[in-house]
Amino acid sequence: MQMTPTALQRIRQDAPSLDEMLFMLSCGASIMPQPVVNVMAKYLELEARVGGYGAAERNADSLSGVYDSVARLINAERNEIALVENATVAWQMAFYSMQFRRGDRILTVEAEYAANYVAFLQARKRYGVSIEVIPSGPTGETDLDALERMIDSRVKLIAVTWVPTNGGLTNPAEAIGQIANRHGIPYLLDACQAVGQMPVDVRQLKCDFLTATSRKFLRGPRGVGFLYARAESMARLEPFSIDHFAAPWTSREEYTLRNDARRFETWESNLGAHLGLGAAVEYALSVGLEVIQSRCCSLSDRLRNGLREFSGITVLDLGTRPCAIVSFVHNHLPAAEVVKACATRNLFIGASNGASTRIDAERRGLVEILRAAPHYFNTEEEVDRTLAVIAEVLEIL
Ligand SMILES: Cc1ncc(COP(=O)(O)O)c(C=O)c1O
Repeated sequence: MQMTPTALQRIRQDAPSLDEMLFMLSCGASIMPQPVVNVMAKYLELEARVGGYGAAERNADSLSGVYDSVARLINAERNEIALVENATVAWQMAFYSMQFRRGDRILTVEAEYAANYVAFLQARKRYGVSIEVIPSGPTGETDLDALERMIDSRVKLIAVTWVPTNGGLTNPAEAIGQIANRHGIPYLLDACQAVGQMPVDVRQLKCDFLTATSRKFLRGPRGVGFLYARAESMARLEPFSIDHFAAPWTSREEYTLRNDARRFETWESNLGAHLGLGAAVEYALSVGLEVIQSRCCSLSDRLRNGLREFSGITVLDLGTRPCAIVSFVHNHLPAAEVVKACATRNLFIGASNGASTRIDAERRGLVEILRAAPHYFNTEEEVDRTLAVIAEVLEIL
């Protein structure tokens, strides 16, 4: 699916800073389109004038509409969406609400995100669960046959990072969902880096829980993320912590848990950021997720192919169809220095520590990894200029 030149021009007009810099860091925190900024600025001004409660009252319909937008983005129902501070909180809400017993098994993937893995370690310390890593196949994707072979009645959770921090990998999230579903095992999908760069359909993914953040490929503000909790799965799960919003205090001795996913929220939150997230979702939907995905793939392929030509650079792709995140290392230059030198030339890329995806990093001997992620608003010409800046930096460092 193609984006028309007029559509691209309009999208770029909504991001005026693109005229001043080369922005290739949507995998870290992207740039917000103008409609997102406008809705948040307007709300902030109103909060400043009438106070937070008055602003919320006057925007009740728009604030409620954010749940519809997020639900539409991932093909869920609005009552299956909770808005929280970030993807980590969303993930923790689902994970820590699950009950584990000694001997239970948690299956996860080689590229699992660090925040999730340390929570598994804590569960192991607390309950005596075992953490088992499903091996990856020769292409780097999680090996589905190995997963099938690992399943028995003690597996109480399959937790998967769909698009990991490094490697450009897109794990076979849907195929894993089919296996989890067939065996009746809860499936928790970290979609933090998938949402906003590709179509996401929770009914096809067959996940029980899915978590994401606003600031990355969705191009929303920081400090907000969401949890999808499938209605039937949520009904079996009491949140690990509640307040009087999640569970109204209905009589002196009782509370009544909300019957929607907002049981994972608390009463107070940054409502301006909610509106920003809603606007970002609508923006992505108006561009079209298939169009976004196809542009992300072609621009990132151009970048990775260009980088492969540089001596001293190794591109670290995993998987048969790498996504927008292009990961690479130089054989002796420290990643942080390359990032800094690029930034002084107005090129924004990032470096991530191998500990973000420790298992994969240890297996491949990676310590620090450079990351560049073109998004649909970038152009082929910008990718070529990015390559030219990196070439210049490698020359002088
Ligand atoms: C794969 C993955 N999962 C989860 C997160 C956490 O997201 P947040 O920082 O919004 O909590 C990240 C952040 O980089 C990530 O890359």
